[in-house]
Amino acid sequence: MQQKIIILDFGSQTTQLIGRRVRELDTFCEILPYNKFPVGDDSVIGVILSGSPFSVHDPEAFKVDLSQFVGKVPVLGICYGSQYISYANGGKVEKTNTREYGRAHLEAVDTQNPLFKGFDQHSQVWMSHGDTITAIPDGYECIASTADVKYAAFYNSSPTGGAQEGASVFAVQFHPEVFHTVQGSLLLKNFVVDICGSKQDWSAASFVDTTVAEIREQIGNDRVILGLSGGVDSSVAAVLLNKAIGDRLTCIFVDHGMLRKNEFTQVMEDYKVLGLNVIGVDASKKFFGDLAGVTDPEQKRKIIGRDFIEVFNEQAKAIISSSKEGGQEGAVRWLAQGTIYPDRIESLNITGKVIKSHHNVGGLPKEMNLQLCEPLKWLFKDEVRRVGRQMGMPEHLITRHPFPGPGLAVRILGDITPEKVRVLQDADDIYIRGLRDYKVKLSGEEARRVLAAGVPAAMQDGEIEVSLYDQIWQAGAVLLSTVRSVGVMGDERTYENPVALRAVTSTDAMTADWAHLPYDFMAKVSNEIINKVKGVNRVCYDISSKPPSTIEWE
Ligand code: XMP
Repeated sequence: MQQKIIILDFGSQTTQLIGRRVRELDTFCEILPYNKFPVGDDSVIGVILSGSPFSVHDPEAFKVDLSQFVGKVPVLGICYGSQYISYANGGKVEKTNTREYGRAHLEAVDTQNPLFKGFDQHSQVWMSHGDTITAIPDGYECIASTADVKYAAFYNSSPTGGAQEGASVFAVQFHPEVFHTVQGSLLLKNFVVDICGSKQDWSAASFVDTTVAEIREQIGNDRVILGLSGGVDSSVAAVLLNKAIGDRLTCIFVDHGMLRKNEFTQVMEDYKVLGLNVIGVDASKKFFGDLAGVTDPEQKRKIIGRDFIEVFNEQAKAIISSSKEGGQEGAVRWLAQGTIYPDRIESLNITGKVIKSHHNVGGLPKEMNLQLCEPLKWLFKDEVRRVGRQMGMPEHLITRHPFPGPGLAVRILGDITPEKVRVLQDADDIYIRGLRDYKVKLSGEEARRVLAAGVPAAMQDGEIEVSLYDQIWQAGAVLLSTVRSVGVMGDERTYENPVALRAVTSTDAMTADWAHLPYDFMAKVSNEIINKVKGVNRVCYDISSKPPSTIEWE
């Protein structure tokens, strides 16, 4: 049985980060809404309670019945989680003048306590709380303070009164999951590995083995259809399924004509080398025809979404009927998707905010009667990349930036024509190749962020060398075809379109900052685009963050 840690989500912004930190300890974890603890699940080895935007005194504060797990498995409360443990057991949580935001240093750390094994006395931690715990419940003891907060950490080794070894309750007011808590990973390791007893056997290799076995079991002799986009999630899902059921998997890759320069051909080549059974469909005429003259961004997206489903369904139906006519063993009963864990946590979000929904494949007619197979549904993006590497997929497919389903259509302002797409493809190609060729040295937090995203780089003297492409989350060029400006080339006056370059850093695309690209890089790329791409006489750089802007322009 796969051991797991349950993280109960009380709505904090950092809940997902707790999950990622636990996974970095090669331990499987599930993030569940605060009131959905899986009572009776013997694979649970520990519980973490997240932070929350609420105060325990708010009427709408999320409350949980702690007796479901306290005393049975070790528990760690973080921030609101720690306040809730105090509040629910007769301690005191109050609004005081000692609220703390940001950096603080621990004092009087009980380094004999298993949670603080290996800790330094004045370790820096990150605080973010309005309320303060002013009294801890009976049976609990304080194991760390800060200058402003007495109960920065406290614990109880026998929360049910009996001395049940290994089922202690720990509570920390600070956030061990964030980078600025310098020994936060150590604290989580102490909890997950030493206290909960994780065997640390959740790895890319074990994931591939167990998932391949599960897929075989689930699919039996049936056949599966999968929509490929060229992106890392659907590609890894396809390779995993291919490993499990071979060519009983048929992939469909639709070219709507608005992919990057040469992308369709290159990706098809990659898929062939990987041994995937792929049907490539050039549907660009249909898409360009239906988009002609359309300028409204939402309208463009709707048309592309609708056309995509039409083309995909037509292919899927053809596959289903040919497998029947050809008397092939096994019926097409499954639709596979590259859905990953953050897609699902976002839609499960307890505050009810659905942030992103799946745009690419959807709306399959009911009569096709296909069941969903989502082999990556438990993985974070960096884990998907690790799984891809484990299966020997080429690095350029694995580290590829996210790319929107509607493609360059949402990066051309105004109506879309094949000629505009060509201009943008050429500019974008120069930009992306430039990002790949330009190497930078990173250290500290930046290096850690890049490594945590799964970029394979060796640390030497505290530094790693990566390309600008690997340093950033996503980049692309945008054609401002509704704008024209004057320029001069040789003796000629030009009156052409600008191209805006976009590059952002992010960990999940929900928030993003514009990337601080080096000036010499920008100068070179701007020069090359204006000199080589006919129709462009000006290059700008987009310096907006998300929010309030979005990553894509449309
Ligand atoms: P925004 O522009 O909303 O984008 O900040 C967030 C992330 O989502 C990608 N994106 C899409 N991906 N189909 C997709 O598969 C879409 O319609 C779509 N629109 C935006 C965008 O590239 C960024 O990574």
